[in-house]
Amino acid sequence: MRYVRVRPGDLFLSTTAVILAEFCKFSFCLSLIFYQENFSIRSFARHLHENIIAQPMDCLKISVPSIVYTLQNNLLYVAVSNLEAATFQVTYQLKILTTALFSVIMLRKQLSRLQWVSLVILFIGVSVVQLQSQGETKSDKVAQEQRPILGLIAVIVSCMMSGFAGVYFEKILKGTTQTIWLRNVQMSVVGIFIGFVTMEINDGESVHKNGFFFGYDWLVYFVVFLQSFGGIMVAVVVKYADNILKGFATSAAIVVSCIASMYFFDFQLTLQFTVGATLVMTAVYMYSKFVPTPPTPASMKNGV
Ligand code: C5P
Repeated sequence: MRYVRVRPGDLFLSTTAVILAEFCKFSFCLSLIFYQENFSIRSFARHLHENIIAQPMDCLKISVPSIVYTLQNNLLYVAVSNLEAATFQVTYQLKILTTALFSVIMLRKQLSRLQWVSLVILFIGVSVVQLQSQGETKSDKVAQEQRPILGLIAVIVSCMMSGFAGVYFEKILKGTTQTIWLRNVQMSVVGIFIGFVTMEINDGESVHKNGFFFGYDWLVYFVVFLQSFGGIMVAVVVKYADNILKGFATSAAIVVSCIASMYFFDFQLTLQFTVGATLVMTAVYMYSKFVPTPPTPASMKNGV
């Protein structure tokens, strides 16, 4: 994402990329529903009618995370265009904490004290690992017109949105019987609409002058595909695990990618990296080991 925003040449409009990613998810999920309905156009149409057209309140409910996600996806482009990639990654890990906070408030999820400690350790560990790779991004062509404060605000607001939308989506998904594919179709319809409104407000003039696909090449399409595929993965993880575990998965992925970089890009393993990675792994262990014990009938009777 960072590379396609700072490389020389014509710059695509990020608002169009958000719409395209939403459209990609929409098409994929719609195709899956079609497959589940045994490729029967009649039952496919009935399924969509029963679950979307005949359920306006349900669609209204799902539009909350959808709007938040669409704004968040736009903000991420602002963040990654104005912050160095490493700084962005470090700050974006704050979403692990915001997610835990919203899970506790909205889902009444219980976390033990040691789990809270593990969240803090995780954040410190990821930060240390990410700061290590800062040297690599020094050679990054940093554009003169970068506004780091704007980038920082964008990433912090994104973290809040990520936490809220993720937990809200989890609550909807786990409280109803609809499939994630149907939920994502509902979300994408709203997302595409909000995406177009955002595009008109921010880049309307430019789109009318240069066209929707101005500045696109295969690499931009690839980033759009990754964003879209990542979004579907997020939905699956939220359905079958939960939002806090998703944060750990992302963090683990960052560590794995650093290790892979050693083999593919001559990445140097330093003391800083080893310390950070150890902290992350300790946090993962602590988080899974120190789950709060469910109340026993005896402890409930004693009011414990
Ligand atoms: O970083 P975070 O985990 O909050 O990113 C969430 C991403 O997953 C967003 O890009 C959002 O559009 C996407 N998503 C999705 N479908 C869902 C839930 C999230 O596409 N049901």
